[in-house]
Amino acid sequence: LKPALDACTRCPIGGCASQAVAGCGPANSALMIVGEQPGDLEDLKGLPLIGPAGAVLDGALQRAGLTRTDAYLTNAVKHFKFKPRGRRRIHDRASRDEMLQCKWWLDFEREQIKPKLHLALGATAAFALTLNPAPLADRRGTVEETPDGAPVLITYHPAYLLRLPDAHAKARAEALFEEDLARASSLL
Ligand code: URA
Repeated sequence: LKPALDACTRCPIGGCASQAVAGCGPANSALMIVGEQPGDLEDLKGLPLIGPAGAVLDGALQRAGLTRTDAYLTNAVKHFKFKPRGRRRIHDRASRDEMLQCKWWLDFEREQIKPKLHLALGATAAFALTLNPAPLADRRGTVEETPDGAPVLITYHPAYLLRLPDAHAKARAEALFEEDLARASSLL
């Protein structure tokens, strides 16, 4: 998958990134966890969800009785899209069209892994998996379906938890996130 992804020209994002970040995990994973797109660190190392958001995910998975090695981890978009700001590279959300172009790869991964359950982290992953554009706030904690009928549990993106400025709101969102991961564990 990785060499084919590195050569992908379905959209222009790949031209700026260091490399494509393919999904990783056991080929027989019952759980597929889908994030948004690689960040700065993931782009440099070529692995999904290994930065600060990945650390939040790891902690919550552990408390739900899971580890990242139990799951196949991937992103809706396989290249890092960013805007340069001085020496930093600032995350830039992929457009709807770019995400839909990249969905070809996500569908390919789904076809290979055939997970029992998908866990969508945030709105981009939820849309890529379900094609339902409704806001995440109304859907978090619910199970929807892919167009081909596979279950998708929708939860927050861990980077959202990191960004919440209010301690009370953050604690509440973290508790809901952990509840969702425990639910994912019970559905496997
Ligand atoms: N890193 C990833 O690989 N995916 C995300 O969604 C966020 C950070």
